[in-house]
Amino acid sequence: MSPKKFDPSEKIYELLQFGEYGDVNPSICDSATFTFMQAKMMVDTFHGEAEGCFLYSRHWNPSNKYLADALAGMEGTESAWITASGMAAITCTILQLCNSNDHIVCSLTTYGGTFAFLYNYVKKFNIDVTFVDITKEDEVRKAIRPNTKLIYTESMTNPLLQISDIPLLAGIANEHGIKLVVDNTFTPMIVAPAMLGAHIVVYSMTKFINGKNDCVAGAICASKEFIDALSNVNDGTAMLLGPALDPLRSSSILKNLHTLHIRMKQHSKNAMYLAERFKEQGLRIIYPGLPNDHGHETLARIMNPEFGFGGILAIDMVTAERASAFMEKMELAGVGYLAVSLGYFKTLFSNSGKSTSSEVPEEIQREMGMSEGLVRFSVGLDNDIEHIWQKIKFCLEQV
Ligand SMILES: Cc1ncc(COP(=O)(O)O)c(C=O)c1O
Repeated sequence: MSPKKFDPSEKIYELLQFGEYGDVNPSICDSATFTFMQAKMMVDTFHGEAEGCFLYSRHWNPSNKYLADALAGMEGTESAWITASGMAAITCTILQLCNSNDHIVCSLTTYGGTFAFLYNYVKKFNIDVTFVDITKEDEVRKAIRPNTKLIYTESMTNPLLQISDIPLLAGIANEHGIKLVVDNTFTPMIVAPAMLGAHIVVYSMTKFINGKNDCVAGAICASKEFIDALSNVNDGTAMLLGPALDPLRSSSILKNLHTLHIRMKQHSKNAMYLAERFKEQGLRIIYPGLPNDHGHETLARIMNPEFGFGGILAIDMVTAERASAFMEKMELAGVGYLAVSLGYFKTLFSNSGKSTSSEVPEEIQREMGMSEGLVRFSVGLDNDIEHIWQKIKFCLEQV
């Protein structure tokens, strides 16, 4: 019998998290601070020597711990930490790993906020960043220097949907004794980066994990050693910069996490249907589920196939004007919303170059192959996607 494959949804379901009164949804811990019956216990907790005690909610909160345990189960990591945004997860991870004068190798196509942080912000710490085509092994290898501390990438990059070969990149990182940090925001459950060798997995939970577009949140999944270091009261980046998520939100995200596996399958199914239809129209389309897509072979090799190829696709409307006209018509026709972000139950679309990648200078957008007419779709959970396609087709014919 072959060994059972890793199922990211299984550990979430196996977790039995009892609330204070046996509530099936763990009680929300609505407190910033916690009492101690013995003063010594407080001192031990401050020094990280008392397991299971809570001190102050910027450090840890029981509601955040419930969600962190579920996410660590989903990723197969020892531990996790919950942040108030995806950017907080990314920036705390990077600042925890790097000192001034260090160097980072990063995928050129990354979410615009991450790009801006690495392109503009870390300069003040004298941290150098080399941006590479993450799908080119020799470019990654050549970029590594003696002071490189990490390789940073996204499993499926935003917005060009390149696929990172995580086992290959983890191998390169291990050869150099550095960390591979992977943002898995586009592909929760579809890709399990830590199981493929990534050292740290970061998320914007604002997107698919929560799936309701009612809050901004993030997570860092990693070894216990890394999470303990991040939350250390003396020098932990997360503890000292302080982006802790409100426990009320943690509790609602935890409930939404329990439907993530079903949602990912439906997002993927609908996106595959639309991708095939767009392709039939002869449009330039990026969707890693299509057999001739540049990322297809890699994603097919590393994915958990039952969750599909993901809910994001991009089409090239060539000019920004045509992209705008198309999106406005789709919104009026009820296809979804002209809005940034992704992973929502309704379809969202935006022109990447003018929105979520606008932090990337235009010459770099062209260098990475991003057309000014690129429209990124986050395909929703619609039951009747054929009907939605008819609306989209009608809008396409109008522009
Ligand atoms: C891939 C990716 N990572 C991180 C972020 C940032 O997340 P947040 O907006 O939750 O800070 C985004 C936001 O769009 C994203 O697309």
